[in-house]
Amino acid sequence: MSTQFDVALPRDIPADIQVLSGSLSDLDDGSWVDVLTHEEHDRRASFRNEARRRLFTLGRLVLRQHLGERLDLDPAQVPISIHESGRLVLDAGGVRGRPGAQSSHLQISLAHSGERAIAASGNRPLGVDIEIMKPRTERLLDYITHADERPLLGLLAPTAHEQLHAVWTIKEAVLKGSGTGLRTGPRHLRITARNPVPTAAMATSPKNWRLAAVQDTGGQTWNGIYHFSDDYAVAVAWG
Ligand SMILES: CC(C)(COP(=O)(O)OP(=O)(O)OC[C@H]1O[C@@H](n2cnc3c(N)ncnc32)[C@H](O)[C@@H]1OP(=O)(O)O)[C@@H](O)C(=O)NCCC(=O)NCCS
Repeated sequence: MSTQFDVALPRDIPADIQVLSGSLSDLDDGSWVDVLTHEEHDRRASFRNEARRRLFTLGRLVLRQHLGERLDLDPAQVPISIHESGRLVLDAGGVRGRPGAQSSHLQISLAHSGERAIAASGNRPLGVDIEIMKPRTERLLDYITHADERPLLGLLAPTAHEQLHAVWTIKEAVLKGSGTGLRTGPRHLRITARNPVPTAAMATSPKNWRLAAVQDTGGQTWNGIYHFSDDYAVAVAWG
């Protein structure tokens, strides 16, 4: 049985940004076999770790189903390529002329963790991240934050555990959206005071999304939303 669901986003974020989430049980009916491309099957087979293999498979399944629906294409036919940085790219040339052609410039992002995967797309640079919330060493917070940011952490969430996962997912979503991945250490991104607390609209938004703003190393400010649910932290960031 599919557990995939469109993630309800606050109504005051750009309408072109859409998100789909799924769980490992989505693989049970075997339909993924016909959805993944040859290259994706090869990549899947290259993972020695079964858990990693399953998460990779789920990620591609969720991404393809999300884009298939959005572009009115068979999920197996969605033309996805990988930029040399590792960022996933929708091949606009492969979509042009199809029913969903107006969406051919979509930017896409994917994340997986624990038993879940999440895919996002929109008409602007964007990134998504999901992390299972498990105990982590306190040193991780030092690794991903700059001293200037620490006074703001209490505005992001009440507990250190939640703060860590909020910062982690927000910054990783920005790193993915900007396409730099690990090449930019998370400490070099700055959570700024702009909108770190939920506005009234956000507090009543589905899943209690909260707003955050992050400045990247080029000085560009990214908007981010994040929430916690069922032991997972999720963030979406757009520039
Ligand atoms: C890209 C990156 C951010 C992925 O992080 P991850 O936690 O290993 O994995 P996620 O599930 O969140 O994301 C994986 C997906 O990101 C995408 N991705 C890979 N490289 C990317 C890049 N340079 N830019 C954007 N997306 C990228 C891929 O689609 C990948 O999925 P796939 O391998 O199944 O195709 C990784 O390269 C990285 O640098 N991770 C560590 C960053 C870090 O220090 N985080 C600590 C807190 S900020």
